[in-house]
Amino acid sequence: MKRKVAVLPGDGIGKEVMEGTMKVLNAVADRFGHTFEFHKARIGGAAIDEDGQPLPDETLRICKESDAVLLGAVGGPQWENLPGHLRPERGLLGIRKELGLFANLRPVTAFDSLLDASPLKADRIKGVDMLIVRELTGGLYFGTPSERRKDGNEVVDTLHYTRSEIERIVDQGFEAAKKRRQKLTSVDKANVLESSRMWREIVEEKSKAYPEVEVEHMLVDAAAMKLVQHPAYFDVIVTENLFGDILSDEASMITGSLGMLPSASLRSDGYGMYEPVHGSAPDIAGKNLANPLAMILSGAMMLKYSFQMYEEADAIEKAVKEVLDAGYFTSDIAGRGANALSTDRMVKQVIFQLEEDNATAGIMEAYA
Ligand code: IPM
Ligand code: MN
Repeated sequence: MKRKVAVLPGDGIGKEVMEGTMKVLNAVADRFGHTFEFHKARIGGAAIDEDGQPLPDETLRICKESDAVLLGAVGGPQWENLPGHLRPERGLLGIRKELGLFANLRPVTAFDSLLDASPLKADRIKGVDMLIVRELTGGLYFGTPSERRKDGNEVVDTLHYTRSEIERIVDQGFEAAKKRRQKLTSVDKANVLESSRMWREIVEEKSKAYPEVEVEHMLVDAAAMKLVQHPAYFDVIVTENLFGDILSDEASMITGSLGMLPSASLRSDGYGMYEPVHGSAPDIAGKNLANPLAMILSGAMMLKYSFQMYEEADAIEKAVKEVLDAGYFTSDIAGRGANALSTDRMVKQVIFQLEEDNATAGIMEAYA
């Protein structure tokens, strides 16, 4: 199969982890007989420098003409003092909004070989396998544009949702829970916010269509606590944009590093953008130190969600797990005193493992 992929490396380590991910995807393409055509485009600070704005029309055009989008990360100190509409993050928020990517899926899995890398006790995080479904194109991040303002000493941000915006993300939460362990935790702040009260009402309504899914409501502050106290408790969490942003960073510590967390941002028709949860990490950018696994695993999510290439996605996930089990770590997950691999070496190790698994599969077939 031939697939067109828009590649937006962005800034900082985004560029480094993207290079490696394209190599891994090409290795998968070779093994399974696919062709991925990569079309590079600029976003974030890189686009501000070249095109004078964080999300050039050309980039949007390339994304719309592609079957899926891979994005690295945006931002850096050199663009920090620009006005709000010109910041690199605007490019990211703009592309999510323009492409209608309202459903952000952030899986959080505890890898056995990384139990020591987490600041949480190993017995708490063992077996954690949750999915955070974050609303991505509404809520506090976007508000009502005409109401967002700063007048002297007064600032206004609004939290705005329409019923249908809540309905479609809640549906995604239920659909995901149905396919997993049938447990959905809807996170809100219904003791304070009107929007959360409507959110709860909609979850209740929708739950009738999913009798097999056990639903509960949890206040966001309680959820933040529960995430460190008993993370294995959760299966699927569905929540508002800002709550999901905060809780997913918190949950990343279960894996030990933000460098391990992939994500998919989807539209209802399956079109999607895939990006690591981590940012551009300016402090380690350009040093060949970044952990490429979150980006590589985001590539695997693309294969699964946009291209229905399940076996191919599994092959990547399996190789990553085996590489970690064999004791190969980048510095973010290596722990004190361990010998950490560079970004490039980690990529090579994943590709080597893919080829090794392929050869083993070949031998097994020959003997079958
Ligand atoms: C994320 C990031 C972004 C967000 C920033 C960079 C705008 O933190 O993808 O979680 O807040 O959504
Ligand atoms: Mn975030």
